[in-house]
Amino acid sequence: MNETKPVEVDLDDIEEICEGFEKREGSAVQILQRIQEKYGFVPAEALELVGDVLGIPKSKMYGVLTFYSQFYQEPRGKFILRVCVGTACHVRGAGMLVDKVKEELHINPGENTEDMLFTLEPVACLGSCALAPMAMVSGTAYGKLSPDRMASLIKQLEVEEAAQEQEKETV
Ligand code: FES
Repeated sequence: MNETKPVEVDLDDIEEICEGFEKREGSAVQILQRIQEKYGFVPAEALELVGDVLGIPKSKMYGVLTFYSQFYQEPRGKFILRVCVGTACHVRGAGMLVDKVKEELHINPGENTEDMLFTLEPVACLGSCALAPMAMVSGTAYGKLSPDRMASLIKQLEVEEAAQEQEKETV
């Protein structure tokens, strides 16, 4: 299993985000959304600070966080590989897609790659069963996906990322 590197949270940044909102319970969801935009998830220390600022007990803040499926409590990769493992996709080879990702990136479902580029996230049904097997690769839906195509999509993202990094270095 891959160890996820700890993420440094700047509490001043969190306070700054909070300042943009009214100090009332109803602001919690929007503040958590802003924090997740910044970090890709909601770090525990940020959650606590938001609770302190808004005067909401810790247990209630956790309740908010876990109630909304949009929030993540752990860091995630830059590119999310959401492989549908619902019944239709399962029957049409979703397992082979998952195996391909495992083989290419050496991660198990729910894990991130060490460089935090990819997360493998099995999901129930993406709602396009006629196109099974389905996957969302970095926000784009792909139907009738073959393991080879999955591997080439991963490669493509790696190449694009490397090109972007190189561009940053030359600026
Ligand atoms: S089961 Fe995969 S899209 Fe519905």
